[in-house]
Amino acid sequence: QRHLISAADLTRDDAVLILDTAEEMARVADRPIKKLPTLRGRTVVNLFFEDSTRTRISFEAAEKRLSADVINFTAKGSSVSKGESLKDTAQTLEAMGVDAVVIRHSASGAPYRLATSGWIDAAVINAGDGTHQHPTQALLDAFTMRRRLTGRDTGLGQDLSGKRITLVGDVLHSRVARSNVDLLHTLGAEVTLVAPPTLLPVGVTSWPCEVSYDLDAVLPKSDAVMMLRVQRERMNAAFFPTEREYSRRYGLDGDRMAKMPEHAIVMHPGPMVRGMEITAEVADSPRCTVVEQVANGVSIRMAVLYLLLGGNEPAVTHTRTNEE
Ligand code: CP
Repeated sequence: QRHLISAADLTRDDAVLILDTAEEMARVADRPIKKLPTLRGRTVVNLFFEDSTRTRISFEAAEKRLSADVINFTAKGSSVSKGESLKDTAQTLEAMGVDAVVIRHSASGAPYRLATSGWIDAAVINAGDGTHQHPTQALLDAFTMRRRLTGRDTGLGQDLSGKRITLVGDVLHSRVARSNVDLLHTLGAEVTLVAPPTLLPVGVTSWPCEVSYDLDAVLPKSDAVMMLRVQRERMNAAFFPTEREYSRRYGLDGDRMAKMPEHAIVMHPGPMVRGMEITAEVADSPRCTVVEQVANGVSIRMAVLYLLLGGNEPAVTHTRTNEE
């Protein structure tokens, strides 16, 4: 594939190849010099029309670890605020000879438009579009699950067959939930969504997953529980759930976490709203993988960039041989 727009576009073999390549990339992070020459001479633009902390920083770290030239673009302070269109912005970048564009946009479909419009030749990687997709987030989540539930050394080549994954909260506005449902289904996991009826999208019954309204009943049957942020910025104020009622029914606190199997992990894509969907006790517990997910995000993004831009050369083994 030339682009990464949606987790739904990945086959099981595509996804396992990315996860296995990310394991190779993670070894680079264990070295004293965390850098490979793989993308030397290639230029990657990080095109962020919407705020981000984790995704933006980890893409930049991944690009720099692969020795790419990096251009960071944020809509704030650019000519977008003067009314410049996505097409004109893209063509400005194309004129500079860009090899890949990492794009985050509040409009669902913006990365697809960029990839299929003919405006640019570069590879397009979706870093989150509206409520639609966030494929590298789903990949780093799957990578974290595979490591924690299958094992770092025994997981290579494996998918998540039979693992029971529960996603809790604001599914309606969550591109993370959509991407995870698609990818986890492809990887053989059994996915359950738990959410208030008002925060479930129309048509969710056709998604490849179960739906429940009873978090306490689902927790003992979960290998991983992913809490989703309540996205107030995408909601009409009239539909805000009250914090107290929401956390009573759908929040994860220490008592609820104790209902999970001993091996089960708690995940969150970030940013977390402590107190609403997750208590500080749970967020800071060793069972919570939120910081690990961020670190794994760099390896996943290195793997995606390498596989889209790096050609057919081996990623780490070849480079290490050259260095030695
Ligand atoms: N998980 C995630 O996408 O976080 P950011 O919005 O901070 O990038």
